[in-house]
Amino acid sequence: MSSLRGKRIILAVTGSIAAYKAVQLASDLYKAGALVDTILTAEALRFVQPLSFAAITHRLVASDLWTPDPGGGVLHVELAAAADALLVAPATAHTIARLALGLADDLLGCIALSTRAPLLVAPAMESHMYQHPTTQQHLATLRERGAVVIEPGVGHLASGASGVGRLAEPAEILGYLAATLGRTGDLAGRHLVVTAGGTREPIDPVRFISNRSSGKQGYALAEAARDRGARVTLVSSAELPPPVAVQVVRVETAQQMLEAVQAACRDADALLMAAAVADYRVAHPATEKLKKGAAPLTLELVENPDILASVRGPFVRVGFAAETSDLLANAGAKLRAKGLDLIVANDVSARDAGFGVETNRVTLLDASGAEELPLLSKREVAERVLDRVVRLLAERRA
Ligand code: PMT
Repeated sequence: MSSLRGKRIILAVTGSIAAYKAVQLASDLYKAGALVDTILTAEALRFVQPLSFAAITHRLVASDLWTPDPGGGVLHVELAAAADALLVAPATAHTIARLALGLADDLLGCIALSTRAPLLVAPAMESHMYQHPTTQQHLATLRERGAVVIEPGVGHLASGASGVGRLAEPAEILGYLAATLGRTGDLAGRHLVVTAGGTREPIDPVRFISNRSSGKQGYALAEAARDRGARVTLVSSAELPPPVAVQVVRVETAQQMLEAVQAACRDADALLMAAAVADYRVAHPATEKLKKGAAPLTLELVENPDILASVRGPFVRVGFAAETSDLLANAGAKLRAKGLDLIVANDVSARDAGFGVETNRVTLLDASGAEELPLLSKREVAERVLDRVVRLLAERRA
């Protein structure tokens, strides 16, 4: 997640059994390029050892308020000033209460009051403690002050009971962190509508016509736009887990996608259609499951609406074109026919690009010419496409 690269994150771990998951979190943050300083409360030390974090993050791990600052300053002041974010994960009911009250008798409390970096709190505790009005009130106080509360999940708890209170998964926490750090990015204040996945056109109640689109390129676009500050509506027919802090509208058919895109585009600044929309649908889908018969089965197909061609507006419109031959000629024809600002010509003839895989090979094509990109991760492709969108939006404003 490139938006975390080089960011100074204070990971504060508190005394919950979920503290062991913070080791994985520290590792994921480190792999994402973040510079992670770890604070362990006295109670956290009962569950995890400083060495686990030091070995992973290769940076400071401290628990004592009186730990000397390696640079000769005052530790909590220096850490607080340098931080890009303070992430408390897992956060116990006790720590949440302390943060809400502003207690400053330990290292975490002092940093929380000293820093002006955003505070993210990921609670983990037994359901009754989490649902108690006191805890909820303290969380509401933190939210009112601008903190991001990463809701715990529902599932098996340390007591053996099942309920709400499980620490959110590391991927979700990283998503919230990236979204929070990106709030002032170059797409801040913009609303981007992104489509993803292959539409499903029903044949009967159990069968459909579709294609090989996994939705990965569209989801990468949605996450990258979110991490650059945009408000994102993702209209998706894909089966991927929803990205955090993105509004996801689930659809199946091209007709449903058209309606969702039309609604979302009312106040959009840009529409990016990475979805592989089925060009045809079955004219009369059967209401009962079709039975195998002796005669060949013939399906009558009718053309679907062209979403990109029909949704016009003052907003920037970006199409994708998956091609197996004559890439630029075919994509250029779509650029002109649909009156687009930009088309992402997608060479899907190779195994490492296009449908389903993690990488992509594209050429960005507009009226002024073509920019061929090398094989990149879908996230990197998304960033390059968004660079163009930022430029197009700036040109419009000018
Ligand atoms: O989802 P992944 O597995 O990550 O794969 C990504 C991808 C290969 C699906 C993606 O990068 C891509 O290329 N998407 C476009 C697929 C395509 O071939 O579209 P098209 O050439 O049929 O249509 C051109 C453009 O018009 C597309 O932006 C499409 O969304 C849009 N369209 C098409 C048909 C239709 N009825 N309405 C539309 O709006």
